[in-house]
Amino acid sequence: MDRYIDFDKINLELPPPEEEPDRQYYFTAKAKRYAEAESARLGRPLTCCIQTFGCQMNSRDSEKLLGILKQIGYQETDDEHADFVLYNTCTVRENANKRVYGRLGYLNTIKKKNPDMIIALCGCMMQEAQVVEKIRTSYRFVDIIFGTHNIFKLAELLCRRYELRQSSGTEACGAIPASLSQPTKSGTGTAASSKNNMVIDVWEGTDRIVEDLPVERKYPFKSGVNIMFGCNNFCSYCIVPYVRGRERSRRPEDIIAEIRRLVSEGVVEVMLLGQNVNSYGKTLDTRVTFAQLLKQVDQIEGLERIRFMTSHPKDLSDELIETMASAKKVCHHLHLPVQSGSSRILKQMNRRYTKEQYLELVDKIRRAIPDISLTTDIIVGFPGETEEDFQETLDVVERVRFDSAFTFIYSKRTGTPAAKMENQVPDDVVKDRFDRLLKRVQEISAEVCGRDLHTVQKVLAEEPDDHLDGYLTGRMDNNTVVHFPGEPSLIGKIVDVYLEESKGFYYMGKRGN
Ligand code: SAH
Ligand code: SF4
Ligand code: F3S
Repeated sequence: MDRYIDFDKINLELPPPEEEPDRQYYFTAKAKRYAEAESARLGRPLTCCIQTFGCQMNSRDSEKLLGILKQIGYQETDDEHADFVLYNTCTVRENANKRVYGRLGYLNTIKKKNPDMIIALCGCMMQEAQVVEKIRTSYRFVDIIFGTHNIFKLAELLCRRYELRQSSGTEACGAIPASLSQPTKSGTGTAASSKNNMVIDVWEGTDRIVEDLPVERKYPFKSGVNIMFGCNNFCSYCIVPYVRGRERSRRPEDIIAEIRRLVSEGVVEVMLLGQNVNSYGKTLDTRVTFAQLLKQVDQIEGLERIRFMTSHPKDLSDELIETMASAKKVCHHLHLPVQSGSSRILKQMNRRYTKEQYLELVDKIRRAIPDISLTTDIIVGFPGETEEDFQETLDVVERVRFDSAFTFIYSKRTGTPAAKMENQVPDDVVKDRFDRLLKRVQEISAEVCGRDLHTVQKVLAEEPDDHLDGYLTGRMDNNTVVHFPGEPSLIGKIVDVYLEESKGFYYMGKRGN
């Protein structure tokens, strides 16, 4: 955050401002007073615990949510016996939802012993009307529900919860506050508060991007940076466009300013985040391409590494390939989800490229950037997938030889076109294909990842090794993990490491050359 805000000086006698982010600064100040009173009553600081499910978008959102909670006065803990517990949920596959419901049962047992605890749910799952309905009726101990479009409103929603509690006691019914039954400006869609004091504020969509909110980063030396939100691609299996809304790009000057600030705070590596970074800039008044943005980021002094996620093959331009090849700081790693090797299935998936186009693209990238590391996502068991289709997928895996691949069993998502398709593939057939694919992907990965053995590589030391005392874990430019002996003081620094031994997915190394 650019501006220093003295929350104790904000006059709460005045009505809240209309404009963001000032409105949220006001509610942060208000929530801070409520939290201070609660903390005085308990005779200890209040604690908060955020559990994040899903992808890097959610991880980044959680850092913003923690930033708000810390300003209110909460201390972070990993323990779910906290005063405020927030689940930032994912719904990309059914398993993600199941995990949340399972964990909620456990939270209920904790809350029975501590009824003052506040439980909040946010993230992609909350954008689904049937999920909110289920929680509203069957998980009545939940206090706050909000979605992906209004995470910036956490302080306001928390104030509302405190106020409902004060006015009606923990279990009593309260009226729906007028300010919550209407979404604030430029939010569209539903917002409501249920009978049992549950504060619910979910927007169907938004065209706004609120800048200048606090962020509490997980790592001091690397950070995700949102460059765009939402997705317009509507791959037929995917729920993301429905729960994250339409594509919106942040202005390049806001992105650059944020990265400069991060660098001044000690960040050496950024990960530019978007569901499809290759279509960055299309919603801006003045068109800027993703490659142009990368060139600007590459100029930032003090920054050492630039990564980005995710690239849709259909939008990957020659300009981007040239930029990746010539830029000084852009890592030679590309995550390029193929999803399937069958052109017939790709068409059904609405991916808008064929197997041949994907393979040509890979060739072109490798010609321009010979040391590129390629990773991918693959779905097995899309409706109507035959053994021949699956063989095409295996063929792509054999030809491209990915450094690694995330393999997923197709999961039917309500509301997506694929959910209505006939010929859903039986579970046992899918499982058998999945096992065969995974085996091949892992074998190839073990061969490919070892290619830098006995060379010296630049490694960003990231954390103490989980298993070996006196060792650190770091990442090479191409994202491969390396374990090597080193002092914790090296964490956050890029050091030369000699790769002594390849272990398939990672290396054992030693410092120096
Ligand atoms: N925007 C990114 C991916 C976001 S979701 C992209 O287009 O590459 C991450 C991955 O989850 C996808 O690449 C896809 O492989 C997988 N996925 C999405 N929906 C799925 C579903 N219904 N079943 C199984 N896997 C799915
Ligand atoms: Fe989902 Fe496709 Fe958008 Fe990725 S590009 S988020 S897979 S719809
Ligand atoms: Fe999951 Fe939402 Fe990411 S559905 S994968 S957390 S965008």
